Formats: sequence, C-alpha cells, structure tokens
Amino acid sequence: MAVVRQTELPLPLLHRGKVRETYELDAGAALMVASDRISAFDCVLPQPIPRKGAVLTQISRHWFDHTRDIVRSHCIAADPDAIVRRRPELEESRALWAGRGMLVERAEPFPVECVVRGYLAGSGWKEYREHGTLAGRTLPEGLQEADELPEPMFTPATKADEGHDENITFARMREILGLNTAEILKEFSLALYGYARQEARRHGILIADTKFEFGTSLGSGEILLIDEALTPDSSRFWPAETWEPGHTQPSLDKQPVRDYLEGLVREGRWDRMPPAPDLPEEVVRATTERYLDAYRRLTGHELPDYDEQDGRIP
Ligand SMILES: Nc1ncnc2c1ncn2[C@@H]1O[C@H](COP(=O)(O)OP(=O)(O)OP(=O)(O)O)[C@@H](O)[C@H]1O
Ligand SMILES: [Mg+2]
Repeated sequence: MAVVRQTELPLPLLHRGKVRETYELDAGAALMVASDRISAFDCVLPQPIPRKGAVLTQISRHWFDHTRDIVRSHCIAADPDAIVRRRPELEESRALWAGRGMLVERAEPFPVECVVRGYLAGSGWKEYREHGTLAGRTLPEGLQEADELPEPMFTPATKADEGHDENITFARMREILGLNTAEILKEFSLALYGYARQEARRHGILIADTKFEFGTSLGSGEILLIDEALTPDSSRFWPAETWEPGHTQPSLDKQPVRDYLEGLVREGRWDRMPPAPDLPEEVVRATTERYLDAYRRLTGHELPDYDEQDGRIP
C-alpha cells in the first residue's frame, strides 16, 4: 500500500483534519479517509507512518462491528468490495482509499466530546493533582499518575477552535445538550468504554482513556456513534505489561516518535515548536511496527495489505 501524506480523491472535500479527509458522496453519505500523517507534541510530523491510516480505520471498524448492540455507528461499510458494491462510482479511485477509507452515514455532530477515563493521565491527572477532582468530582486522596480510577469516569469536553479541548462538568454538558441527550450520550460512552477496556485488557492493552463523538443521522434522525472510535489517535493505549503508576506511561503506538523527539529536546536541538524535525527511517519503521502490533493484538489477525496499483489484496 502506498504511503499517503494527504489524500486527493476526485470528490468534493467536506473536511480536512490533522489526520483525516472527509469527502462528500451525497446528502446522506461520506467517505472518511485516514492518511498516514502522525502528530506528536501537537505538531504534525514531516514523515508519514506507512500503514498507520489503514490501522486507524480498521481498528474503528473492528469496534463499530463489536459494539453495535450498544449503539449504532455511522459505518455503512469498510471492506473495499462492499464499499464499491454500495457506491460503484468509487471503483475508479479504489487504489487511493482501499483499507484506509470508510463509507459513513452523515450526521450533525453534538458539540461535546464524550471522554471516558479509566486511569489518571493527561489533563485528568493535571486536574486531580491541582484540585483533587476529576470533571469537578472529588476523588480519593493519594492517587498517583497512571493509577486506575475506582471506576471509569465520564469527563466531557468542548472542542476549542484553537489548541486543546476544554474540559467541562456534566452539569455544563446538560445545559448545552439538554438533560436527556446528555444522559444518553454518557450511558453510551460508559458502556462502550466498559466493553472495549475488558476486551483490550485481555489482549495486553490498557485503554487509559478515550474520546467518543456522537451525532444525529441526517437521514434517520437517530443518534449515531460517529468519527473514529477506540483508536490510538482517539485514546491513550498503554502496553499492559509495563504499566506502573507513579510516572507517565509509554504509549503503545507513538513511543518511538516521542523518545526520539524528547532526545532532540534534551540535546537542545528542538524547542517543541513547529515545524517538527524530520524522523529517521528507523523511527518511522519502529512506529509502523507498533501500530501493526496494536491492530494484531486487538483483532487477533494481520492487517490486510491492499495493492498500491489496484487497491485489491494480492
Ligand atoms: N458521520 C459524520 N458526519 C458528519 N461529521 C462527522 C462524522 N464523523 C465525524 N465527523 C466530524 O468530522 C470531523 C473529522 O475531523 P478530523 O477528526 O479528521 O479532524 P478534526 O477533528 O477537525 O481535528 P483533529 O485532527 O484534531 O481530530 C470532526 O469534526 C467530526 O466531528
Ligand atoms: Mg477529530
């Protein structure tokens, strides 16, 4: 499969994010395509990570398939043959999206990010350290960084236009979305996380926290799980075998990139400001291996490799 920095499909572009492009098919459907771009320390790095886009799309697909009893997702199809059967006009560009593309139902996203945390890390750890609380709720004293929480907690956030998301209380979420919708999204989020964390733990992966997005289907008006779900980009994945509270945990997927960049910072060769430095080939290769390993651990099989020329499995 080709390494893709930026996808260019002959379709109208709806949205370009840090990692994915979304193309319009019609009023009800879109094709979301994950590139191989990677970000670290809030910078998109110059080198793409081969196969990362496919890993992300196929991990989302895995969870969408396994959690349909909890909530229906926006995924219409992810298998390239199935996508082309639904939308024959996509056959021509197949090599450009096979593996990394998902046909989805378009939705109006709710303006709240549904974060669930099972462990103390990132902005959750920061809030606890400073105030002894998480999403405004008081937690037991004496917890350390990366400790498991007494139970998974729902900690919503709003999407900031610039930079980091802003954490909000559940009371604030109820004001934004209304009581019923807020309760429903919270229940869905906790159920999705509860299922996925058990499954992942059985395969040696701790999902420390994760972010879900939900939306209202433009077609049916139903609440759908949208965006990506339970991927390394929307979650913190830690290797279970090295978990040790008391310090920042290594990332299952991005650690080679982080280690390399932190090394440059220590040597005074990078100041953490964009543009990010080039990644050596060994770091890129090691990172691809980590993503493939995450896919393999979660699904129990190898990531299918689509041919660069015709988008089929050779
Ligand atoms: N089924 C859907 N219908 C409509 N919009 C969707 C659907 N699924 C996801 N979205 C929206 O599409 C966008 C996907 O953006 P993407 O994640 O690629 O970049 P971003 O969120 O703008 O930035 P970042 O790269 O930081 O995540 C999000 O705004 C998300 O809410
Ligand atoms: Mg996003």
